[in-house]
Amino acid sequence: MPTPKTVLSLIQATGVPTLGNYLGALKNWASMTDSGTDTPNNCIYGVADLHALTVRRPPAEQRRQTFEMYATLLALGLKRENSIVMVQSHVPSHTMLNWLLCCSTQFGEASRMTQFKDKSQQHADNINLGLFTYPTLMAADILIYQAHYVPVGDDQKQHLELARNIAERFNGLYGETFVIPEPYIGKQGGRVMSLQDPTKKMSKSDPNPKACIFMLDPPEVIRKKCRSAVTDSEASVRFAEGKDGINNLMSIYSCCTGESYEQIEHTFVGKGYGDFKNAVAEAIIEELRPFQTEYPKLLADKAYLEQCAREGAGAAARIADRTTAKAMKKCGLWMV
Ligand code: TYM
Repeated sequence: MPTPKTVLSLIQATGVPTLGNYLGALKNWASMTDSGTDTPNNCIYGVADLHALTVRRPPAEQRRQTFEMYATLLALGLKRENSIVMVQSHVPSHTMLNWLLCCSTQFGEASRMTQFKDKSQQHADNINLGLFTYPTLMAADILIYQAHYVPVGDDQKQHLELARNIAERFNGLYGETFVIPEPYIGKQGGRVMSLQDPTKKMSKSDPNPKACIFMLDPPEVIRKKCRSAVTDSEASVRFAEGKDGINNLMSIYSCCTGESYEQIEHTFVGKGYGDFKNAVAEAIIEELRPFQTEYPKLLADKAYLEQCAREGAGAAARIADRTTAKAMKKCGLWMV
């Protein structure tokens, strides 16, 4: 019988997640809890509250957003017999391993991270060291669970590459310690684009509120945002170069309905963009409906969420502490 694979991913605790977060990552997290075989994956998912601290916000907001993101993960049905749902700061050994990995990461390679460069520009008044070492903490999150697969959106590819390089370097220096992780990026949905500028990634920090659909947007808001999505003047629903707006909507529609691009082109032949945009909106509304029904119920049950978070922390720490102790020993720390 094949051995089960470990799947790991985290999401930052920074406000309501977007359709990009959902289609690029969370939807795959949910499907990977059920591998469809006799050997289910061991899945570990979490809220990256320490990463969220790299951008300043009031403490009460940080706490509330962590709690709400935890409720989001449970509302997606991620808590199963074979999965752990935790909050990053509840498992302190992530930060210990982060230090060990920092000592195996070169300043030059961390400086090349595009997210560091982007965020330094966005938050020029707070270019803190946490922002710089962000990717080593992310590597620690992954390597500490000996993860085989990391379901993420396309924008995290560079960080994953760095995590692999750090793991290979550490293993080379100190002997076999970490599994080398692989990113898992869906064929579609890996890069959901802005509805207002389809050459840019859909992002919750976009100043244009029409650019981004949030997972808790009510149906009427989703319809409005889809109707105002930027397209082109050709009025033909087909996937082609130079049709970034329509390509983006087709990829969203395809992720929500499971239809291929050929099927979509066939269904909408001779129909205008208005019809297609309405269909995209309805597909998104249907896709998010189970989550939107479940989320408020969970959010109202604070005691249950706290209990789940405590259990998640305990189960995660049992794995994380073991790997951390192994790495500490390998690199020559005095263990007593
Ligand atoms: P974060 O919180 O920015 O985003 C969470 C996930 O959503 C994906 N994503 C998208 N996918 C497709 N299209 C988009 N427009 C889009 N926007 C966001 C991201 O790729 C991500 O998978 N550093 C991570 C959090 C993290 C992590 C980890 C991830 C911390 N530790 C360990 C994996 C493993 C981040 O900032 O994601």
